[in-house]
Amino acid sequence: MEQRKPLFIANWKMNKLAQEVGAFVPKFNELTNIFSSKCEMVLAPVSVYLPKLVELTASTPIQVAAQNCGASKSGAFTGEVSPVMLKELGVHWVILGHSERRHVFKEDDALVNARLKAALEEGLIPVFCVGEKLEERKSGETFSVIERQLKGLKDISENNLKGLTIAYEPVWAIGTGENATPAQAQEVHAFIRQWLAKNISSTFANRTRILYGGSVKADNSAQLMAMGDVDGLLVGGASLDPLSFGDIVKRGLNS
Ligand code: PGA
Repeated sequence: MEQRKPLFIANWKMNKLAQEVGAFVPKFNELTNIFSSKCEMVLAPVSVYLPKLVELTASTPIQVAAQNCGASKSGAFTGEVSPVMLKELGVHWVILGHSERRHVFKEDDALVNARLKAALEEGLIPVFCVGEKLEERKSGETFSVIERQLKGLKDISENNLKGLTIAYEPVWAIGTGENATPAQAQEVHAFIRQWLAKNISSTFANRTRILYGGSVKADNSAQLMAMGDVDGLLVGGASLDPLSFGDIVKRGLNS
């Protein structure tokens, strides 16, 4: 089986002003210096601070992600940022289909899939988020929801999917303080990997990283990362502070 390098992503959502973005980088870099070779670390600020963060992290192992991207290269799409523009800025990663995009901003599967295709075409690494709502979990629909969200991947050739990362983020666990138990996360991650093996290929399934997100904190990162199919963490609230995010990475690597 291929080694999947642990991956930790900080999703800052609509938080942090320029000065806070600037203060985070040296502090976090210093904290993670010792173990940065063992994992990949990515910070996702709001789009206006992407250039600043790319510049600040240039001589560090820290990478940068956008929180979304447009579904076209350019055009009349007010408020959107195209994947071509992200690439021009030196941004290599993009989070897509985050639950806040899907449920607060009503992005449906078709739109998320169009964004995904556009991102892949530009060679960006998408972090494709999937996850069920509480009522869907309660009514036993978790796997069918995940399957529906993954379905669009079947329309893309395996070669073009290269680099794809998946994040399982149960909606009921995001920002609620209630994380999925390691066993609950493992169950869905294993389901996603099996789906990838069946619908894309077993090589692809083995090398694709599947992250968990939803109320990750320093005191649950090791237990979550100890699960065989949890390859990394997508962290919201607890990633805003460099000490806390650094601790999540450190403990996660020692799992
Ligand atoms: P949270 O958010 O860690 O604050 O629950 C995770 C996410 O939305 O990516």
